[in-house]
Amino acid sequence: RRIAVVGGGENAEHDVSLATARAIARGLHEGGFEVEELTIDRDGTWRAGAAALGSRAAGSLAAALSVIEWADVVFPAVHGPSGEDGTLAALCALAHVRMVGSGLRAGAIGMDKWTTKLVARAVNVRTAPGRLVAASDIADVEFEKEAVVKPVSAGSSFGVALARDAAELREALRHAARFDDRILVEDVVAGREIDVAVLREADGRRWASPPLEIHADGLFDTRAKYDGSARFSVPADLDGTESAALTRAALRMFDALGCAGVARVDFFLTDHGPVLNEVNTMPGMTAHSQVPRMFAAAGLPYPRLLGRLVDGATV
Ligand code: DAL
Ligand code: MG
Repeated sequence: RRIAVVGGGENAEHDVSLATARAIARGLHEGGFEVEELTIDRDGTWRAGAAALGSRAAGSLAAALSVIEWADVVFPAVHGPSGEDGTLAALCALAHVRMVGSGLRAGAIGMDKWTTKLVARAVNVRTAPGRLVAASDIADVEFEKEAVVKPVSAGSSFGVALARDAAELREALRHAARFDDRILVEDVVAGREIDVAVLREADGRRWASPPLEIHADGLFDTRAKYDGSARFSVPADLDGTESAALTRAALRMFDALGCAGVARVDFFLTDHGPVLNEVNTMPGMTAHSQVPRMFAAAGLPYPRLLGRLVDGATV
């Protein structure tokens, strides 16, 4: 079968998406698929392999559509806004092409940390208390207590900072505003950082991976994510009750958003149970990223995970 893998993208996670797309393309190729790699440059123009498809977004997209038409399945591997947020899913839906992963709705909600919070509350999954701030109002925000400041729509912790006093809050808000015009100011949650991945199979069954624990010094921020300093343990060292609560909450979020393919649901495990951090509908997928590690621990190695995702692709 022919697969078009789309990587890159127009946001801060461009390089991360390239790494994910490259790993997926290699894995699929080794699995016997015919693979074409499409890349969205930082300015929105598309390329096929090394060849630029045009000098403007619209014209190059038209050329990219012929590759998309050639493919039996599109595998969008773009993290962040203008990719993971449902835009690529919408493109595939309009073109009537089967694609891997979540559709427009789940992508859009998952990318929006504020809306995700509202959905979580509706299905009894705890999240950190937080307030929404418009970027135009940041001068009026008062420091109340230590808080985590993040752009509503971003990934890989870009734009995220801890604010311990009024000066840091002002600086963190200004920084976050470079990524989005909506900003979340959240209470700090003390807990272990645990991820659970959920896979939806071709027959619609969903199942959760063993939980993975992230051991980072301080914040698991962009630097810790990609400088190799964080360690993972999978399966995480948890008792049966903790494991069950995490799995239940992950499946509940997957279903509430209507996710497809694979999603990684990130939690803090507190003394009072799991607190949702976020849902990633296009999680990092290099061979050493969390999701492949979690499914490998469940007996599903990376190439077979990719094959199952292709099998589960939907129109
Ligand atoms: N947004 C990054 C790639 C992740 O979720 O792994
Ligand atoms: Mg994320």
